[in-house]
Amino acid sequence: MKKPKVFVTRILPEEGLNRVLDACDAEVWREDAPPPPNVLMEKVRGVDGLLSLLTDRIDGQLLDAAGPTLKVVSNFAVGYDNIDVPAATERGILVGNTPGVLTETTADLAFALLMAAARRLPEGADFVRAGLWTTFQPMLMLGRDIHGASLGIVGMGQIGRAMAKRAAGFDMKILYYDPFAPADVPLPAGAIRCTVLDELLGRADFVSLHVPLGPQTHHLIGRRALGAMKPTAILVNASRGPVVDPDALYEALQEGRIAGAALDVTEPEPLPADHRLLTLKNCLVVPHIGSATHATRTRMAVMAAENLIAGLTGKVPPHPVNPEVLPRRR
Ligand code: GLV
Repeated sequence: MKKPKVFVTRILPEEGLNRVLDACDAEVWREDAPPPPNVLMEKVRGVDGLLSLLTDRIDGQLLDAAGPTLKVVSNFAVGYDNIDVPAATERGILVGNTPGVLTETTADLAFALLMAAARRLPEGADFVRAGLWTTFQPMLMLGRDIHGASLGIVGMGQIGRAMAKRAAGFDMKILYYDPFAPADVPLPAGAIRCTVLDELLGRADFVSLHVPLGPQTHHLIGRRALGAMKPTAILVNASRGPVVDPDALYEALQEGRIAGAALDVTEPEPLPADHRLLTLKNCLVVPHIGSATHATRTRMAVMAAENLIAGLTGKVPPHPVNPEVLPRRR
């Protein structure tokens, strides 16, 4: 039997990739950088399935370039803001993502960012490497306490809840803002729900963002929101870069209107090495590595492969984003 034709936009951990290679007639983009949009447009012509990354823009034009054979787009990510899901649904194309498997790993990284910024770890490491450590100094690199501080979690989905669990272990007070969270969302004892974002921003010592990117969350943290934060507060973002307005953040950090920021995600991404945010000592940036552990990236690759193969073989994928297309799929 003829195998379905698929395009995979990057090399993935082999447990996942091998499943795709076994089940499909697959072409894999083997460069480090993503396929340029015009190349992707060519590569998808006539494919039955596409295994994409968050760096690939999948819109109506791309889906039309693939043509009527395309049945499934499987994204190697929990977030799918890179995909125009309504356009896929309209065309009867199934979209899959990889929720759950990266929750704890991403929360680990968000908490690591919080701790690194609070205790100025990157600055300390740079200081030692530069040969500046001459003696113990009572006033050297004073940071902020984490234990006993209040953490404001914006977005109480799976990753937000995993963050809350970690914070509880550090005796932090938990505040959260999420207009969509059910009233009975399981949370550590004492967590306080804020009905308006500014209430959280005005009370939290650390603000950690865990919302998906969409029209409502684009630049959610801009000049106004940053102005509502305490001057001693630290902002952590391990969600999506454009949730934070980078110009407003630069000004707030530079003028000392907030104490620091620790970012796993930025706008733009990648952040150019000469970006002005990188000139600030109180801004820590890492290159979108929230889910980057061996085990988690492997689980994501397997799940993305399962979504792809199920979508190609008429089965129900483990994690469809638009299950409404299942009854009428191509
Ligand atoms: C990573 O950012 C993801 O959405 O999986």
